[in-house]
Amino acid sequence: MDRIWQKAYDKARKLVEKMSITEKVNLTTGTGWGSGPCIGNTGSVPRLGIPELCLQDGPNGVRFTDFVTHFPSGLAVGSTFNKGLTYLRGKALGREHSKKGVHIMLGPTVGPIGLKAAGGRNWEGFGTDPYLQGVLGAATVEGIQDEGVISCVRHLVGNEQEHFRQVGEWDDEGWDKLRRSLSANIGDRAMHEVYLWPFADTIRAGAGSIMCAYNQLNNTYACENSYLLNYLLKEELGFQGFVVSDWGAQHTGVYSALAGLDMTMPGELFDDWLSGKSLWGPLLTRAVYNQTIPQSRLNDMAIRILAPFLAVEACFLPTDDDLPNFSSWTHHTFGQQYPYQHYGPIKQQNWHVDARSKFSDDIALNIAREAIVLLKNDGHNLPIAKADGIRRILVAGAGAGPDPKGFKCKDQRCVEGTLTSGWGSAAVTNPYVVTPFEAIAEKAREQGMVVDYTSDVWEFENVDELSDYADMAIVVVGASSGEGYIEVDGNFGDRNNLSLWNNGDELICHIAEGCRKTVVVVNSVGPVNIEKWIEMDNVVAVLYAAPLGQFAGQAIADVLFGDANPSGKLPFTLARKKSHYVPIITDISERDDPQDNFDRDIYLDYRFFDKHNIRPRYEFGYGLSYTNFVLCDLKIVEVCPPSEYLPYPEEYLPVYNTCEDDVCDPEDALFPHEDFAPVPGFIYPYLYNDNIRSLEEDECFEYPKGYNPDQPASPPLAGGGLGGNPALWDVLYEVSAEVKNDGKYKGGYVAQLYIELPSTLLPSPPKILRGFDKVFLEPGESKRVTFEILHRDLCIWDTLSQQWIIQTGTYTLYVSSSSRKVELSGEIDIGC
Ligand code: NOJ
Repeated sequence: MDRIWQKAYDKARKLVEKMSITEKVNLTTGTGWGSGPCIGNTGSVPRLGIPELCLQDGPNGVRFTDFVTHFPSGLAVGSTFNKGLTYLRGKALGREHSKKGVHIMLGPTVGPIGLKAAGGRNWEGFGTDPYLQGVLGAATVEGIQDEGVISCVRHLVGNEQEHFRQVGEWDDEGWDKLRRSLSANIGDRAMHEVYLWPFADTIRAGAGSIMCAYNQLNNTYACENSYLLNYLLKEELGFQGFVVSDWGAQHTGVYSALAGLDMTMPGELFDDWLSGKSLWGPLLTRAVYNQTIPQSRLNDMAIRILAPFLAVEACFLPTDDDLPNFSSWTHHTFGQQYPYQHYGPIKQQNWHVDARSKFSDDIALNIAREAIVLLKNDGHNLPIAKADGIRRILVAGAGAGPDPKGFKCKDQRCVEGTLTSGWGSAAVTNPYVVTPFEAIAEKAREQGMVVDYTSDVWEFENVDELSDYADMAIVVVGASSGEGYIEVDGNFGDRNNLSLWNNGDELICHIAEGCRKTVVVVNSVGPVNIEKWIEMDNVVAVLYAAPLGQFAGQAIADVLFGDANPSGKLPFTLARKKSHYVPIITDISERDDPQDNFDRDIYLDYRFFDKHNIRPRYEFGYGLSYTNFVLCDLKIVEVCPPSEYLPYPEEYLPVYNTCEDDVCDPEDALFPHEDFAPVPGFIYPYLYNDNIRSLEEDECFEYPKGYNPDQPASPPLAGGGLGGNPALWDVLYEVSAEVKNDGKYKGGYVAQLYIELPSTLLPSPPKILRGFDKVFLEPGESKRVTFEILHRDLCIWDTLSQQWIIQTGTYTLYVSSSSRKVELSGEIDIGC
């Protein structure tokens, strides 16, 4: 892989050698919000045939266009614990982005990881565990890039809540006090073992791009945090692609350039859209001409931006034949060239290309089915069968039917119908939605049942009557959240609490009082409080579903009626008490630069519950099936003897700085000709005559203390390859076990491998996930599940010596059905 990047760098360098300063700057700077068809557009280099590059959300489907699939959310993917299916979803996503002409897809999301249960964007990622997030993030990147689209992994790092992510976001709501974005204060061990971990996996998988987050990290903005970008990301994790700012997350021009930012989006400052004012663009040009920023840094940015297209096998450098065929700014077929600015000639804006396919449909539906987690099934009332005396079905709850405002609701901010996703930039325009009521009714009718439906959630007279009549009631409830720029019912991205929305609790209680067989489907963006009714006898079964995309109802009905056997596992812990979760910081009365101290350290989610012996309602990794699985015959085979320390990585290759460093003639940077008519708000890289005249008066820039542009001779001990020291990925042990389907239904089983590390040097959580394998078995059938334990899986991060260490001592391995249900265990002894 590293060889591949070397070759790509050679090719990219040759291209960059041919570019002028303004051409290079053009690649680094977005042309401005709305100044191009995509959510982010770079400038172009027409002389070399490089068009504006299109960056588009997002992780669950192509945003702001039509005729695309709305795939199940990242959290739903996490619930499947299915790596192969995740890869295929990545491929389907990549294929649809490619068909729409997108060059860089903004996803997957592996940060937030879900530290805070109410965090607005947790549903975009794959669940609250770094290992799960890393494996599925990497599989997604591989899938996307195998379809010729560059993946942009987001958000680096610490964006665990939406409140105060950006100054200026909710000034009218009293947030005008905010002087600097929230600072995520993350300790070094947690940074390595939890928050950077999934990014390392995606880098190893070849991710071409990474998005730095809005928040500050340890009191420096993520997009100008040299320690984060230059050191941790580019040195330690060996990231070779480009770092792009989240939209408006850049706060300084020169500092961010020196700190390792390579591309700024959408070009201008946050919320100063259409101003045409950028921290880069002409200012970056100027900073190179007045020699504040070494041209080698600009070359590095341009090379990093081009290299992924040359490194990823299925990719190629786009040309004018590979342009987006949609506009993010209008759904009309024809309109002004710059619809957002109301400027320019009338042109075709949307070709309405149908990017969907049977492949996408199959993947989206399979994931939605496999994501559903069966939490409770007392008395085996599910799957629903007429033979069990179920002849009259009632479907209720806001989540069961369409939202009164329709399916297309912008960025999915409508929350009174079937939840297909949370809201924000990861939302997709639904092409249609199969609602639970529609799908359940169809199946029920096929079996000769009678079906009723009520969307009443506030008045209960009618609901009570219907419940009394029904043999079984299915209540679909949930909660939503999303990105901080949208407020829904007083929730500014993050949820204000963990209660069910649309009066869910009261509705369930009413229905369960009247109907002896009440089935609850919780369709939500994350953990919700289910304590009010979970132990009620009449609540006979409960399903949990993360946002499932357009086929939500179909998948739910398939599971309810047994056309699919549930095999999903909880990708987070469902607590009994709110106090067991980390709260969102919502108060800035004391500080205008809120501090978010990540006190949970490495004890994320189940690790915390295990450490403090707290009984959750349902633990991470939990999920029932209609069938029964038994495990036996654990085998642990040493593949390669473990060593306490990593070998030193190879020295860096010498830097080839053959690019022209001559910045003599600033006249080269002038607008191409005098009667050039700039598009309003468009960001160009050019200088004006006045700028040039004053160049010499620019004051000397005071470099940050310790700044040194020279590349060190060798990487840090933890570095040296994509994702870190290559030896971290050595397979040390192979673990396997036999799983048998001992029940009546065919079904999928997720075997989970947890490891208890010794505490020779440092204490660690009682158990950490270090493997999972999903198998599908017919009744009576057996298969082996296998896990590979890599060097990194046994390591702790030693902050003192700044290295990964395998401690001596005993490692206990648990092959489990959840983070608490151990099926088989064994030990590895690692001596000194
Ligand atoms: C801001 C979001 O945080 C980011 O995830 C997204 O890609 C950009 N907006 C562009 O929509």
